[in-house]
Amino acid sequence: MSHSLVTMSYIVAAILFILSLSGLSNQETARKGNYYGMLGMAIAIIATTLSGSVTAFGILIVALIIGGAIGARAALKVEMTQMPELVAIMHSLVGMAAVLVGYANFMDHDITITGVEKTIHELEIYIGVLIGAVTFSGSVIAFGKLSEKISGKPLLLPGRHWFNLGLLVASIVLGAVFLQQVESGGDAIIPLAIMTAIALVFGVHMVMAIGGADMPVVISMLNSYSGWAAAATGFMLSNDLLIVTGALVGSSGAILSYIMCRAMNRHFLSVIAGGFGTASGGEAAAIEGDVQPIDAEETAQLLKAAKNIMIIPGYGMAVAQAQHTVYEITKFLRDKGKKVRFGIHPVAGRMPGHMNVLLAEAKVPYDIVFEMDEINDDFVNVDVSIVIGANDIVNPSALNDPNSPIAGMPVLECWKSETCIVLKRSMASGYAGVGNPLFVLENTRMLFGDANTTMQAVLKALQG
Ligand code: TAP
Repeated sequence: MSHSLVTMSYIVAAILFILSLSGLSNQETARKGNYYGMLGMAIAIIATTLSGSVTAFGILIVALIIGGAIGARAALKVEMTQMPELVAIMHSLVGMAAVLVGYANFMDHDITITGVEKTIHELEIYIGVLIGAVTFSGSVIAFGKLSEKISGKPLLLPGRHWFNLGLLVASIVLGAVFLQQVESGGDAIIPLAIMTAIALVFGVHMVMAIGGADMPVVISMLNSYSGWAAAATGFMLSNDLLIVTGALVGSSGAILSYIMCRAMNRHFLSVIAGGFGTASGGEAAAIEGDVQPIDAEETAQLLKAAKNIMIIPGYGMAVAQAQHTVYEITKFLRDKGKKVRFGIHPVAGRMPGHMNVLLAEAKVPYDIVFEMDEINDDFVNVDVSIVIGANDIVNPSALNDPNSPIAGMPVLECWKSETCIVLKRSMASGYAGVGNPLFVLENTRMLFGDANTTMQAVLKALQG
């Protein structure tokens, strides 16, 4: 393939990636966005393979088959509830790739550049390995936290900020030593290896120090890091498309982190420093009061009497896979002339847009699905709110208990509706591990059981 044809293909692929991102920003165009992304990636792979930079076609084909098979199997096998973990582990692979490409480049003695160009190239390697190692170990810990293999509680080492600062200073000093050694022909691999170890420790420490409720910010941040790691790999390999793609992922991840911080009313730096809201202040208030259980039949009666209904889905709806039954109920109630809307918290579930994906899968019309900011003031007019497997996102202590680990996070104020029905299996706390006073409020009724089973019973009672 001629050089200009490769460049043309890269430009087309880059445009398709941009179209993909803009498509993904809206539910109606998300499917098209995915197709653009797939097409762009196919063009990118073919153009790179035929660009002349690849000589070992045999190895490449074997790698493509193995990698493709693993990816296809993971995508086919993964449950909707495991999606966030899959994304986290994918980020770790991008980080690992950046580290491996960095070391391969460092050891490649065929590179003939000299002078300033060589120094810049070595610096690219150093930065690429640094970002890649932080992304890799941070994402592995994020995977552990999301799959609940590692506790969601923040690990708060004494003097942790000094520790982080020490690691940062050490990485900068080692960078200078590395460049010096490269220039003098010394043993540059030693500072590079020590920095890699430091970056791995930093990634682990950074994510371990983050409390459960702040994980959304970390996930979007690691998403951003994985983009910058890919861009760094692009610099090392002198591949323009990889630089552009990495920058697109890096900057869109950074914007997503900002949106997540705003949704949680957190400062970005406080989240990165870790343990936000847990280091100072007293004990969170204990939850006192009586729980008022309700059954499916009584729930159906309340729904029949209501005119204005708000449904609030959370992580438990994903676990129970209750979205289809929820939509059946929605259809039934709307056919009876009732106003039914969905209120979506920006961090509901375990990944950005988690609830929107589930509701789209169940074919819930987009025009009855609202963001938190759009409907939070309207709960006073709602007759019945149904909270389906949500907990932290409807916790009033976020607003009225300054010692709560989720203090300051905006929540869906469903307790302002006339009656609030909460579906969950037990009195267990949510991801942030904090008690929820909503469950004992006077106008709250608890409908215990698996959300799908109970929703099916409610549907039957409504139809009967
Ligand atoms: P959670 O606070 O985790 O609460 C989910 C509730 O669902 C649990 O209390 C659980 O109670 C219930 N549940 C689980 N399985 C169920 C089932 N089969 N049937 C009925 N109920 C079930 O979820 P949320 O309210 O959606 O809040 C999200 C939390 O995750 C926030 O703290 C957020 O910061 C964090 N987080 C979010 C993200 C993103 S990006 N969205 C990423 C990482 C972390 P029982 O066990 O009693 O049933």
